[in-house]
Amino acid sequence: MLFQLSEEHLMIRQAARDFAQNELKPGVIGRDEHQKFPAEQIKMMGELGFMGMMVSPKYGGSGLDAISYVLVMEELSKIDASASVVMSVNNSLVCYGLEKYGSEAQKQQYLIPLAKGDVIGAFCLSEPEAGSDATALSTTAIDMGDHYLLNGTKNWITSGNSATTFLVIAQTDTNKRHNGINALIVEKGMPGFTVGAKENKMGIRGSDTHSLHFNDVKVPKENRIGDEGFGFKFAMRVLEGGRIGIAAQALGIASGAYELALNYAKERKAFGKPIADLQAIQFKLADMATNIEAARLLCLKAAWLKDNDQPYAHASSMAKLFASETAMKVTTEAVQIHGGYGYVKEYHVERLMRDAKITQIYEGTSEIQRIVISRSVLK
Ligand code: CAA
Ligand code: FAD
Repeated sequence: MLFQLSEEHLMIRQAARDFAQNELKPGVIGRDEHQKFPAEQIKMMGELGFMGMMVSPKYGGSGLDAISYVLVMEELSKIDASASVVMSVNNSLVCYGLEKYGSEAQKQQYLIPLAKGDVIGAFCLSEPEAGSDATALSTTAIDMGDHYLLNGTKNWITSGNSATTFLVIAQTDTNKRHNGINALIVEKGMPGFTVGAKENKMGIRGSDTHSLHFNDVKVPKENRIGDEGFGFKFAMRVLEGGRIGIAAQALGIASGAYELALNYAKERKAFGKPIADLQAIQFKLADMATNIEAARLLCLKAAWLKDNDQPYAHASSMAKLFASETAMKVTTEAVQIHGGYGYVKEYHVERLMRDAKITQIYEGTSEIQRIVISRSVLK
């Protein structure tokens, strides 16, 4: 077993680290405060090949592996988790879903611009009354022969206003329950499709989270992904990979906060010496480093399984569960190590602590990850 990254992995990680320091860091506090979407930065991420990292070059992507994706997600999330969630949804939910399950025509029309980063994609499963219980959908896609008539509301949609391509999961035949659900490609501007209110969030405030409303939207039949009734399984399968992305995001938030706390502990003096000389601080740093390393190994293991075509649902849930719990613990301790300075915006750790919380909620809460893991171990 080789615990070593390849030269190519190291180069990709360095490129992401440089981009995060040079392009994401300068405006990150202001974007958080004013809820400003990182539009220019996302464009640059497209130019660097970060928006379609695992997509084949044939469809405009970078053709890289999931390990590279984890490395880039970690580096970007150390600095700006708002930019990285846009990247994560675009890569692992939207692009992966289209490349793996879409028709050739769908790939030509939708995947190529998404993978190049020319446009942004969104994934629309959650509803006001259906989050964890994802089969309880009220959004309907009624079969009208040559098209589906889409009606309903989706909630909490990441990139809801900035995206132009939306993968919408909707119920066609309620009698068939989860086997009567379809995944449809919906374009911004289709008559009857409107973007609702923007959420005023605790964290990842630079990302634009909106509700979406569909009122008699005519979606052509050729925009259905996969066979009739495949929509719920489609959602579950893409979320398996999506959870690796969010796990890596949580890992990045944790490691970003840890690095800040480590440096601060060496510089800050109390009682005549750096606080890093105090065993109480040393033990906090030791626990933070250990949890981060364990989270990183779980992320890389899940990515490795995916890269090697092995089942990875339980591994991605384990990575997401552990990394998100680690992000919450580590960022809280990072604020503590900074004392009062940790509680103000200039020192970044308060934002990282607010950003960490969402990783325990979206793409399946920690409780849902435990359900997936326990079903797998009890099987
Ligand atoms: N792959 C393929 N099929 C799967 C599957 C998987 N990973 N998981 C379940 N299925 C299938 C099952 O086999 C079953 O099909 P059959 O009856 O034909 O065998 C069907 O789906 C229903 O499965 P369950 O009975 O297990 O379904 P459930 O109602 O118990 O729910 C759940 C399972 C894991 C809790 C699921 O509802 C879930 O993942 N909920 C969380 C939803 C979620 O993660 N939402 C995220 C939204 S996107 C987002 O959040 C993006 C963002 O923020 C950035
Ligand atoms: P609920 O499902 O109502 O859960 C409430 C509480 O009950 C949670 O603690 C939950 O863990 C617990 N619970 C529920 N069921 C069980 C159970 N069976 N066992 C134990 N505990 C349980 N969704 C999308 O589709 N696309 C997006 O792009 C997207 N982006 C998001 C961005 C943000 C900022 C936010 C806040 C959410 C986003 N979501 C998105 C939605 C997200 O996936 C849901 O919020 C999440 O799945 C939880 O659903 P819920 O909010 O309805 O909570």
